[in-house]
Amino acid sequence: MQGAKLLEGRVVAAAVHERTRQRVDQLRRRGVEPAVIFFRVGEDPASELYVHMKKKRAKELGILSEVIALPGSTTERELLTRLEEKNRDSRIHGILVQMPLPRQIRVETVCQAIDPSKDIDGFHPINAGKLLLGDPSGFPPCTPAGICEIFRHYGLVTAGAEVVILGRSNIVGKPLAALLLAKGPQGDATVTVLHSQSRQIPEHCRRADFLIAALGRAEFVRGDMIKTGAVVVDVGVTRLPDPALPGESRIVGDVHFKEASQVAGWLTPNPGGVGPMTIAMLLANTVKAAECFAG
Ligand code: GUN
Repeated sequence: MQGAKLLEGRVVAAAVHERTRQRVDQLRRRGVEPAVIFFRVGEDPASELYVHMKKKRAKELGILSEVIALPGSTTERELLTRLEEKNRDSRIHGILVQMPLPRQIRVETVCQAIDPSKDIDGFHPINAGKLLLGDPSGFPPCTPAGICEIFRHYGLVTAGAEVVILGRSNIVGKPLAALLLAKGPQGDATVTVLHSQSRQIPEHCRRADFLIAALGRAEFVRGDMIKTGAVVVDVGVTRLPDPALPGESRIVGDVHFKEASQVAGWLTPNPGGVGPMTIAMLLANTVKAAECFAG
């Protein structure tokens, strides 16, 4: 590989986990056992794997966790009832509902039903509002927070820089724009958010000192869309059939890695870049929730 240095999310995540482990130990010494509930609805294999990984990591850090797996036929009312029980349970500090949800369940209704003080995903409107207002008492969504933590770890300063975000999702694009607009060394950026209706996407991308691809289109960002020396972050996870292994699939990011590595100054590998950070920030949010509860 030429040029680009790797932003190793795995390494940054390990550092975050170590700090989380110490905070868990401190809580336990005070008699508080941090505990999280993961809800999963339906039989999505990727969701099963993600929840399994979250549970495994939580255990390694000394965080208690329980997975509540509900059938794909679960009604919205049934899920809300189960959520309500966990909202009221003072032994539980964090609640996560794994997305995607079956069609009969509205995402907004579910996000609004989680107690904002247990909303470790940061999807509740109260937490989204706090993020926009720069109020640090909320929970920042995990993937955007993880991206900023990668920048912090590697000493990459976004202040004053041109940041271009591809994708305007509620989980990544929009909250990331809010974080990068906030004051601070991993904020204070000039942020452009591009989406499916944007014009002149390659021209915008070529201006970017930091380019973050979170649109869910395999290898959308080619080498000629990247400014020389730019920081490039690949959030995409698209499963494509593997031509080398019939019947198997491979994960492809939103960035053409080989081309990008010739042009970029810094680049996230995928896998091993943003993915591990999402779990690290989720468990850091869980401990934050437990600390706030303990006072
Ligand atoms: N599905 C994909 N990303 C996420 C996430 O960050 N949180 C939850 N709950 N589900 C997801």
